[in-house]
Amino acid sequence: MAVRRVIKMGHPILRQVSIVIDDLKSWRFEGVELHQFIQDMRDTMKYEGGIGIAAPQMACPYRIVIFGLDKNTAHSDALAIPFTVLINPEITPLSDEMSDDYEGCLSVPGLRGLVPRYEQIHYRGLDQEGRLIERTVSGFHARVVQHECDHLDGIVYPQRIKDLRDFGFEDELLAVHST
Ligand code: NI
Repeated sequence: MAVRRVIKMGHPILRQVSIVIDDLKSWRFEGVELHQFIQDMRDTMKYEGGIGIAAPQMACPYRIVIFGLDKNTAHSDALAIPFTVLINPEITPLSDEMSDDYEGCLSVPGLRGLVPRYEQIHYRGLDQEGRLIERTVSGFHARVVQHECDHLDGIVYPQRIKDLRDFGFEDELLAVHST
């Protein structure tokens, strides 16, 4: 178990475009090979209670994201997302349709904001064994993938909020939404 520190918005690595991984087998970050690094990402995500995490959030500027939400935690089959590792992911929106929903981020603790995302996307990337992962997804699953992949392009969700009145502290927003 190796939980790494999650860097927060404002750190320069969260503003930069991350590097494509050319050779999975020889890749190392600070001496740590790919499988171990992905295990660290997984441990960190679990420890922090996240649904996804991107390598740059662990100060590693390479194109790796992981995400997943099991049925029990999601409380619904519709929101469940299989645990997935994506290296060098590519996203293609399947229509112009966007939907708004609140997002949070481990790098922006305590805050939430209303973010428009494509409703339907196709995504592809490699897993840690180099196998191609390809899926067409919509709704919450599509939102999570777009959020995580934004981190690889130096984008944190507050940059996508249209109206900053829809950005605030989680406890205050929840108070509004529960009435
Ligand atoms: Ni995030």
